[in-house]
Amino acid sequence: MNVQIRLINMRQKFEEIFGCQPATVVRAPGRVNLIGEHTDYNDGYVLPVAIDRSILMAADPRPDRQVVLHALDFDQRAEFSLDDIRHDDQYPWSNYQRGVAFFLQERGFELPGMNAVISGDIPIGSGLSSSAAVEVAAAYAWQVLSGFSLSRVELALLCQQAENEFVGMKCGIMDQFISALGQRDHALLIDCRTLEHELVRLGAIAQRGSVTPVFATIVVCDTMKRRGLVDSEYNARRRECEEGVRLLRKHLPEVKALRDVSPAQFERYQQDLPDVVRRRCRHIVYENERVLQSVEALKGDDLATFGRLMNESHVSLRDDYQVSCRELNVMAEAAWQVEGVYGSRLTGAGFGGCTVSLVAGDAVDRFRARVAAEYQAATGVEPQIYVCAVEDGVGEASNGIRRLKLRRPLRA
Ligand code: GLA
Repeated sequence: MNVQIRLINMRQKFEEIFGCQPATVVRAPGRVNLIGEHTDYNDGYVLPVAIDRSILMAADPRPDRQVVLHALDFDQRAEFSLDDIRHDDQYPWSNYQRGVAFFLQERGFELPGMNAVISGDIPIGSGLSSSAAVEVAAAYAWQVLSGFSLSRVELALLCQQAENEFVGMKCGIMDQFISALGQRDHALLIDCRTLEHELVRLGAIAQRGSVTPVFATIVVCDTMKRRGLVDSEYNARRRECEEGVRLLRKHLPEVKALRDVSPAQFERYQQDLPDVVRRRCRHIVYENERVLQSVEALKGDDLATFGRLMNESHVSLRDDYQVSCRELNVMAEAAWQVEGVYGSRLTGAGFGGCTVSLVAGDAVDRFRARVAAEYQAATGVEPQIYVCAVEDGVGEASNGIRRLKLRRPLRA
């Protein structure tokens, strides 16, 4: 649904529930990772984009210390006090806001209580980072209401901390980072060790309002399979990568993370690694190379190379990192058969969720029809297929007339 229509709905709902207009409505986007999967927690490189699917959070300060949250998509209300923030099992969706509030206060920021209404169009569990968007929206809403100063990088780190330590998912930095720092019509190359980042213009990939011909489009295909194993398997992959570092350090004592291992070094010492650890390491070492090569390809508008690297990434995730599943493989392989497809791969953690494909502008209709038919024939499930526009990171979607009156700048 168009973001303007969603905004009007949010404002109406807020007024119905709380009897006034919100001081602000914040929009935080989901993401699609073009390439660089499972590299973030290995100190490596990733290349995500922020997309036109987002979480909206309408918020207004309260004079007391209560936080009252209405999740429109679940039709549920959760409430907690800023003086006693605990994990909530009854309304697990509220743990993201609780975690963010907890760590903002731990950093010394004085938060006001808050009334909020939350709604999103990022399918939950689809691997498009709805949880990171929820965290980033909450942190940004409190920033708008309180006026504290936190850079976008710090905001992303704080949200990651909330997810790691409060929610309990040991994710890397990619999802929160792109939701906070993404930019319209650009991908973001992130060095997940130093957090240095570079916007890469999408050039030959579709840009809104572009007067030049549209060469290629980012298309997301949702398998509709929700990630099941993701927490346990994700943590297992992290441990296997750490084991790889431990073993490689016998030969290469300077190595701190798999990011530090070059392909030549890997080839030299790989025979000393047990089979599973060797596969995990091979994926990470070459995936980092692929990210850097794909950035060069993008800068040169070389979509054929970019697409080939995407396909190689999928094969490596399927065979070496082993985070794919039948549904993701059927979807990617169906895409590979369609004329006009540069590349296609699973995106996000894996075990379900979505693929991302780069499709020539004039092949999108054919792509939709062929991939949907083939996927449905193989699995019996109708996929969701959408063309993605690349959007800005978090920001205020609109602010209310009451804002200036109520906003009290509070500093840490
Ligand atoms: C999830 C995590 C990210 C990243 C990806 C895999 O989305 O939240 O930090 O590790 O999986 O690339």
